[in-house]
Amino acid sequence: MEVKKLDYNSITTHHIDIYAFQRDLLTWFQEEQRDLPWRKDKDPYKIWVSEIMLQQTRVDTVIPYFHRFIDKFPTIEALAQAEEEQVLKSWEGLGYYSRARNLQAAVREVHEKYGGIVPDNPKDISSLKGVGPYTAGAILSIAYGLPEPAVDGNVMRVLSRILLITDDIAKASSRKIFETAVRDLISHDNPSYFNQALMELGALICTPTSPSCLLCPVREHCQAFFEGKQTELPVKMKKKKQRIVQLASILLSDKEGRLVIQKRPSEGLLANLWEFPNIEISLQYMTEKEQLSTAIKNQYDTHIENIEMIGKIQHVFTHLTWNINVYQAKIDKIREQKNVKQVTLEEIKAYPFPVSNQKMLKQYLDSNHL
Ligand code: ADE
Repeated sequence: MEVKKLDYNSITTHHIDIYAFQRDLLTWFQEEQRDLPWRKDKDPYKIWVSEIMLQQTRVDTVIPYFHRFIDKFPTIEALAQAEEEQVLKSWEGLGYYSRARNLQAAVREVHEKYGGIVPDNPKDISSLKGVGPYTAGAILSIAYGLPEPAVDGNVMRVLSRILLITDDIAKASSRKIFETAVRDLISHDNPSYFNQALMELGALICTPTSPSCLLCPVREHCQAFFEGKQTELPVKMKKKKQRIVQLASILLSDKEGRLVIQKRPSEGLLANLWEFPNIEISLQYMTEKEQLSTAIKNQYDTHIENIEMIGKIQHVFTHLTWNINVYQAKIDKIREQKNVKQVTLEEIKAYPFPVSNQKMLKQYLDSNHL
């Protein structure tokens, strides 16, 4: 047995039998890995799509989206040539929509600049939009079998325990420490399985609050388990408090029952998605209804009547919470404007909406028995 001494920070020295660790981890993965749709082949495009979808999103949520996305856009060429609105529609409900827009921009670059072949080296692949160090490492190792680290939050949790690494994983600078650790530990015979096994261990065994150490295939290599510190790791600084924004949104219907929708700006939160007209509510001398009514008259140059509240919605983003009061009202025809439409309840289905706005539409349909 060869026990290697690894140093990642000044506090701890890590002793680990690397080959035994690889063997125990890989054997477990071969036997226990979940049957996931992106594990069926090594198509770099499919691996790429899956890794983008899996960022900030649970495997169970991703699976149906992945199937639908690949059915609709089966190749680099298909996605490169698709309308952005179609791509956003396929992403509807997954959140973090810039992922979808960046993916398509990057796929278009691969189509044009690399003849539709996903680059197989760190420099070129990392230059693609939305492809950070994690995604680059995941594609290079899983699709191309290269011994590159793919370090996300789960992998940091697993390795912080195995190697007793106490650096704050909320700090951007910590990722490098974990990448160095992976470079030291990774199996050169099977980098793909090695990285996926670390992810799988994080998902199935080495979970955030109550890790199943007694079932862990690498327990005997785990320094945190040895010292009884597994639940104290990883060290992670507390997030800042969420900002709360009060909004009033309104479903405006004309005589034919058509609803006003507007396209969000091309930058920032929920970029290029569609939404119902809304305003941020400030504490003012005017009531919410008065503020809405004034804003709608100014923006759409229309007569508005019968404003009534039909519900409330809360939507939590990473740094922000929206508390939305939902209204409906009747209007006349509105002035033509770019990025504003009046659509029937059938037509509206083709537009990509944030989940909060899908819920508003449901409240509107329910409260009017439509
Ligand atoms: N999370 C991120 N990438 C993953 C993968 N390839 N398999 C399972 N979970 C993951």
